[in-house]
Amino acid sequence: THPIRIAPSILAADFSKLGQEVRDVAEAGADWIHLDVMDGHFVPNITFGPDVIKSLRPHTRATFDCHLMIAPADPFLEAFAKAGCDIITVHAEAGPHLHRSLQTVKSLGKKAGVSINPATPESAIEYVLDTVDLILVMTVNPGFGGQKFVGATEEKIRRIKAMIGSRPIEIEVDGGIAPDTAGVAAKAGANVLVAGSAIFKGGSVDAYRSAIEVLRTQAQK
Ligand code: DX5
Ligand code: ZN
Repeated sequence: THPIRIAPSILAADFSKLGQEVRDVAEAGADWIHLDVMDGHFVPNITFGPDVIKSLRPHTRATFDCHLMIAPADPFLEAFAKAGCDIITVHAEAGPHLHRSLQTVKSLGKKAGVSINPATPESAIEYVLDTVDLILVMTVNPGFGGQKFVGATEEKIRRIKAMIGSRPIEIEVDGGIAPDTAGVAAKAGANVLVAGSAIFKGGSVDAYRSAIEVLRTQAQK
């Protein structure tokens, strides 16, 4: 079984000093850095691309967990790999050839993740389980930070956990993760918790550290 990992999403960080924010949150105990890439097409918001990620890479040795909310994803996978992402997650809803996208990520030497939106059933990923290292269960509709956890995803996490059986796949949750929902998601089977606003609202290394500790404690209960 996998350890609990806390993955702060820099979507909620101060974009005017991202390098500093990444260093601070890594120092505060973040296990992974979660990078939310949005294209204004697959989701109704735009964030950043591979060049910004490349510029952040020298600031920390922490794992870069890249969540691609872009369609199509395939033309950009190589750029994200070269930018220094360690895990590249594509959405099952982002294109007709999910298996190919995941194979491409693996062929680039990166860990492959697949994500599903709240309305997408777990059956959408049933036939790619032998091609993924991580399943990212969206617990809000992607596009924005600060939204409320969609309760119906708890049962979905449980079903996915059962579906993966003994495969060494990590289950990540993203959206509306705060101390209460961190416990719910972890009990259902998630081990990687993404949190944006719950961590970055503090605005200092000390505040980031205590927010990360609270999430970890709740998830380990
Ligand atoms: C939503 C993003 C999330 C988001 C989470 O589209 O994928 O990673 O930053 O933000 P919070 O933790 O504030 O819900
Ligand atoms: Zn995300």
